[in-house]
Amino acid sequence: MNISGNKVVLVGNGAVGSSYAFSMMNQGLCDEFVIIDLNKDKVTGDVMDLNHGVLYAPSPTKIKAGDYSDCHDAAIVVLCAGAAQKPGETRLDLVNKNLAIFKSIVDEIMASGFDGIFIVATNPVDILTYATMKFSGLPTHQVMGSGTILDTARFRYLLSERFNVAPASIHANIIGEHGDSELAVWSTANIAGMSLKDYLEKHPEHDGELETIVDDVKEAAYRIIKAKGATFYGVAMGLMRITKAILNNEEAVLTVSAYLDGEYGHKDIYIGVPAIINRHGIRQVIESRLNDEEKEQLDQSVATLVQYLPR
Ligand code: LAC
Repeated sequence: MNISGNKVVLVGNGAVGSSYAFSMMNQGLCDEFVIIDLNKDKVTGDVMDLNHGVLYAPSPTKIKAGDYSDCHDAAIVVLCAGAAQKPGETRLDLVNKNLAIFKSIVDEIMASGFDGIFIVATNPVDILTYATMKFSGLPTHQVMGSGTILDTARFRYLLSERFNVAPASIHANIIGEHGDSELAVWSTANIAGMSLKDYLEKHPEHDGELETIVDDVKEAAYRIIKAKGATFYGVAMGLMRITKAILNNEEAVLTVSAYLDGEYGHKDIYIGVPAIINRHGIRQVIESRLNDEEKEQLDQSVATLVQYLPR
C-alpha cells in the first residue's frame, strides 16, 4: 500500500454519498476530498455548496469534483454508487444491478494505480464488499464494508433510550449480514462489565422491553424508507466513523463488513463482525464469544449471503 496523505475519494454522490461528504467536512478529517459521479451538475453544485461552508469547519478541507484518475494517490475510496432500496425491496434484491455497476467502477479505479483502502457502502454491502475485493485484487485487509456499523448504532441507541445510558457506554453489537438475517450478540452485551441480563434483573421496570429491540433494528431501514424514501444520515455517519478510525490509525473496534478467513468457522466471505481498524485497514477480526443460538444465527446469516457471492 503506497498511501501517505489523507486524501479521500467518494464515488457516488447520491443521498448517502453527499451526506457522507457533509459529515466528513464537519469533522475536518481530511485535507482533500474528491467527489466523482455521473451527474456532473450535482457534483458541481455540492462542491460549491460544501466549499462555501469551509469557514465554519474545524479545519479546511479542499473539496473538488474529480474523476477516477484522482484515485491514484487516495488513502481511501468510498463506494456509494449504485441503486438504493425502494419500498418493498430487500437489500439483496439490488445485487445484480449493483454488481454490474461495481465491476466497471472498480476497474476504472484500479486503472488509476489505486493502492489504498476501499470502504463499500452500497447494498447489499457484504456482497459488494466481497466483489470489490475480487474485482480489485487488493489484499482483503484493504477492503471493508460499512457492514453492521449502523445496525450496531441503532441497537445501542435503542438500548440507551431504555436504560438512560450513553450509547457509547453500552457494549452491544449487531453482527452478520447487513440485512434481515443479522443478529444481536446479547450473551456478551454489557454496561461497564455488568451483563445486560444482570442489569435487567436489577431494573425489572425494563422487563419485556428488549424483545422488540432487535426487530426495531431490523425494521429501521424499511420504516425510514417508507417515511422519507431513503436512509442516508445514519449510514453516512457510520462511514465517517470508519474513515476516522483509518485516518487516525485508531486501532478501534467497529462492526464493519470484514473478510473471514476461518474466524467464526467461516472462510472466504465478507460479513459484519467486530474488527480492529487502523491506518492499514482491518488489522484483525475479533472472534466474540457466541452462545449456541447466536452461532446458529450467524451460520444462517453466512448461508444467506453465500448464495449471492460472485464466484
Ligand atoms: C440502512 C441502509 C444503509 O440500513 O442499508 O439504513
